[in-house]
Amino acid sequence: MFQKLKQRWKVNGLNLALIITTFALGGSLCGYAGRKLLTLTGLEKGALWVVLYIILITLLWPLCVLLISIPLGQFGFFKRYIAKIFSRFSNKKKAPVHNVAIFASGAGSNAQQIINRFSKHPTIKVALIVCNKPGAGVLNIAKKHGIPATIIEKDAFFKGEAYVGTLQQHNINFIVLAGFLWKVPTALIKAYSQKIINIHPALLPAYGGKGMYGHFVHEAVIANKETQSGITIHYVDELYDHGAVIKQVTCPVSETDTAATLAAKIHLLEHEHFPQVIEQVLQKQNIR
Ligand code: GRF
Repeated sequence: MFQKLKQRWKVNGLNLALIITTFALGGSLCGYAGRKLLTLTGLEKGALWVVLYIILITLLWPLCVLLISIPLGQFGFFKRYIAKIFSRFSNKKKAPVHNVAIFASGAGSNAQQIINRFSKHPTIKVALIVCNKPGAGVLNIAKKHGIPATIIEKDAFFKGEAYVGTLQQHNINFIVLAGFLWKVPTALIKAYSQKIINIHPALLPAYGGKGMYGHFVHEAVIANKETQSGITIHYVDELYDHGAVIKQVTCPVSETDTAATLAAKIHLLEHEHFPQVIEQVLQKQNIR
């Protein structure tokens, strides 16, 4: 059960313990304050005191829990938690918003296409750009569109909590890797299980794995005299270029193709299909 809660709330063991403590202390404080208020106002003598008490503790509960969450360092979590409860009551029929983070290391032409597709979308929003290279082109794209960007550092990504906290602060519920060159650490895969997809510029499982990126892929395809290449959009697991395939699209490789001309053909395919596949996947996903 604790494991499930950790996954659902995307928190570590210590935070889960503090959250449960906050619920317990906040609940007790609320019960106590409710009784005290009834006594002070003399309302506990009326016939309907139980009903009044229930109404009172329902109103007091968010305040008490938020109050307790401050010294326990869980204010951010409870602010989101309570806001979620309120939004469930107020907008029951509203479609869920998919807040997407794009992870990219380079020029960001795919990121640009994805941003274009969803800029006016009613339920899908590119809410964060995550980049491991200061100065990468994708950061200018983020700036141009007013999308927040985070530059990540190796140690925090691989040895720390993999920026899960930052992603949660931006309410990210789906991750798209668009030319992101670092391996995705287990902590992130666990926190976003089945909610991370990648695009690879070849027909996996061929021409994938460590070191197979950018021009290296196209050079290998040409060196092997392949007659076709293409793109693979797939879920991300703990191995490079390995998770379940969502879609593959092919293109011919001609004898005169160079790595650069093949890359250009592949980019065209990526720009056409990636945003559309992201939309299809999100529409099928049940985001909590
Ligand atoms: C794309 O070809 C993608 O398949 C690969 O990296 C490239 C990124 O290009 N993973 P861009 O930065 O989106 O222009």
